[in-house]
Amino acid sequence: MILTKLIRVDPLKPDENAIRACCDAAHRGAIFVFPTETVYGLGAYALLPEAVKRIFIAKGRPLDNPLIVHIANLDQLSDIVVEIPEIAWKLMRVVWPGPLTLILKKGPKIPKEVTAGLETVAVRMPAHPVALKLIECIGPVAAPSANISGRPSPTTSHHVLLDMYGRADVILDAGDTFFGVESTILDLTTDPPTLLRPGPLPVEKLREVLGTEIRIPPPARGLTESGVALAPGMKYRHYAPQTKLIVAECSEHSDVLSCARKIADIVRDHYLSKGMKVAIIASRETAHMYAPIGVKVVVVGSRSNLYEVAKNLFSALREVDRLGVDIAIAESFEERGIGLAIMNRLRKASGYTILRI
Ligand code: TXA
Ligand code: MG
Repeated sequence: MILTKLIRVDPLKPDENAIRACCDAAHRGAIFVFPTETVYGLGAYALLPEAVKRIFIAKGRPLDNPLIVHIANLDQLSDIVVEIPEIAWKLMRVVWPGPLTLILKKGPKIPKEVTAGLETVAVRMPAHPVALKLIECIGPVAAPSANISGRPSPTTSHHVLLDMYGRADVILDAGDTFFGVESTILDLTTDPPTLLRPGPLPVEKLREVLGTEIRIPPPARGLTESGVALAPGMKYRHYAPQTKLIVAECSEHSDVLSCARKIADIVRDHYLSKGMKVAIIASRETAHMYAPIGVKVVVVGSRSNLYEVAKNLFSALREVDRLGVDIAIAESFEERGIGLAIMNRLRKASGYTILRI
């Protein structure tokens, strides 16, 4: 247990002294929790291997799962990567700062601890005033999401305190993060580029900016566990609640209400009839379908606004554990735009337990 310094900051106009205090601590080897537009990160100054190692210990993260390097401006990029292909410039110009991580060839200054010995490095420029000010002061910051390994990423300061109080040296609390799911990861070392993780920046947008095809391997949809992981993190269980979770996926032809009715029937016949307690993660449009059968319902947002669903998703997964149920069933969402990221996280959280209806 270490002594954690908790500092509240205004997300849009962070106090200079707070940024300076965290920046000085980082240069002395501290690890710190900071907000980004996606989820909270647990950072260390990327050029200090000893500090970077402490991140893995604090999270209980396997050492072979590399970290993303966060930058505040394009000048910082020259220390991190050796070669920037034209397609990378195209994306960086349009999307950064924003929720897109690019895999590029690693430069010599980045310690092997950051990339788990890989010759490539993940880089992103987060669109959050606190993150940008902090990274401008510190220099490149290596950071994974600020959860204990295997738990859902923290999207509120409450999640951060639960997971990182006593583990990080500093916590910058700036309230809820904006998108609620982690950045889109695109590997630019392959041709065509490969989507390693869907996120808030939709693959449709990437295709539009690049004007090229993008490969979407099954693990990026959360469908299978690849034997040799394309992104090292793909092979680990993620985002998982302690409670057993099943994702119910109806065929494309059934409308949402008849899908919800089928889920309710299955839950009643297979679980409630055996005396099991059940929670359902449902959309606002379908939540009322479950009230009559006597289950707990966690409303995650509206189907007409998948950004709302994404933002509430990790809170919903954490909420399920507080309800004290035997099993949780999650509805599924359309794999369009940020919906692809939602389904990737849900399927992974379920340990790929998918009920096809
Ligand atoms: O939105 C985000 O990306 C958040 C915030 C804090 O920036 N960060 C985040 O980091 O989600 P993390 O460590 O939870 O997820 C990073 C993923 C891991 O699955 C890791 O394996 C992959 O990126 N990754 C990192 N470096 C890589 C590389 N060189 N090649 C392929 N995958 C890489
Ligand atoms: Mg993570």
